[in-house]
Amino acid sequence: MKSTLTSTLTIAVAAVASLANGAAVQKASADNNSTNAVNATELVEQEIIAVDQVSRIETVANSAGNSSFVFDFLNAPEAAVVAGDAGNITTAVVSSFPALEGTGAAMFLFQLGPCGMVLPHSHPRASEFIVVTEGKISTQFLTETGSDVFSNTLKQYQSTIFPVGSLHVELNPTCEPAKFIGAFDNPDPGTFFVAPGFFSLEEQVVLTQLGGAVSGADLSSFKKAIPPAGVVAIEQCLKNCNITANAKRDILDMLPAK
Ligand SMILES: *[C@@H]1O[C@H](CO)[C@@H](O)[C@H](O)[C@H]1NC(C)=O
Ligand SMILES: *[C@@H]1O[C@H](CO)[C@@H](O)[C@H](O)[C@H]1NC(C)=O
Ligand SMILES: *[C@@H]1O[C@H](CO)[C@@H](O)[C@H](O)[C@H]1NC(C)=O
Ligand SMILES: *[C@@H]1O[C@H](CO)[C@@H](O)[C@H](O)[C@H]1NC(C)=O
Ligand SMILES: *[C@@H]1O[C@H](CO)[C@@H](O)[C@H](O)[C@H]1NC(C)=O
Ligand SMILES: *[C@@H]1O[C@H](CO)[C@@H](O)[C@H](O)[C@H]1NC(C)=O
Repeated sequence: MKSTLTSTLTIAVAAVASLANGAAVQKASADNNSTNAVNATELVEQEIIAVDQVSRIETVANSAGNSSFVFDFLNAPEAAVVAGDAGNITTAVVSSFPALEGTGAAMFLFQLGPCGMVLPHSHPRASEFIVVTEGKISTQFLTETGSDVFSNTLKQYQSTIFPVGSLHVELNPTCEPAKFIGAFDNPDPGTFFVAPGFFSLEEQVVLTQLGGAVSGADLSSFKKAIPPAGVVAIEQCLKNCNITANAKRDILDMLPAK
């Protein structure tokens, strides 16, 4: 049975974009040329109910033949991209690349501008193994409360691993662009950006955790200033690079470009 090719790509939940703040999720738009221009939700549903792997593979192949198994990171469905001024992340996860269903694999391409930082986050269902393909990347992670913080700077073709669930951050400490690729051992790794998650808890909880250093009145401006997700430039680094930072630190500036 052929699955229906629709003019609109529907992605229910792109892993990186699966945030509390739905505004950070770019709406998919019509793109008949994308190798993934199918209703991904429908396709994955069909794959899940396929009786065996042969039927599952056939279901995937019915969507676009051989190219059903190709994901083009430089021409990905819009919903697979979280883009900001300081860089972007393109995610090949089951919702953007249905061929991943049942494979235990996913992959992200990160393109960071000078001083770009992927905000602190964790992946609840996958370890992440990254390799730097251009420039330099600094990383930090800790696996749980009580763990040390491990900090490294990687040059081209060096790698590091973030164990499943670990809190981590990746940043480009240089004035030149950088790129790295992340491989995941789950087609639906999920992404949890820590600060927006924390600040979405009830006010009394947040104020108590902050140890009284912040008043209730300050909390709303705190919340407004916090980028919801994705990639943001480190201001001090931009200064050292003589790059003019965005003067306006409005939350809307942090959202993906329209
Ligand atoms: C995609 O294809 C459909 C059906 O052929 C057509 O109606 C629609 O206009 C096309 N969209 C684009 C962006 O080309
Ligand atoms: C799709 O491909 C057609 C023909 O190659 C081209 O004219 C059109 O601009 C492409 N559309 C997009 C959205 O890439
Ligand atoms: C994609 O498929 C899902 C599940 O059948 C459906 O709810 C959704 O409306 C479809 N989206 C489009 C754009 O056809
Ligand atoms: C894939 O390509 C081969 C060689 O061109 C062709 O024989 C085969 O039918 C294609 N498979 C699908 C699912 O389109
Ligand atoms: C992602 O970043 C690269 C490198 O800066 C840029 O060339 C590309 O246009 C960006 N893509 C999107 C969708 O923002
Ligand atoms: C930035 O400008 C200062 C002052 O002009 C200069 O000393 C420094 O080398 C510049 N840094 C870079 C990375 O260009």
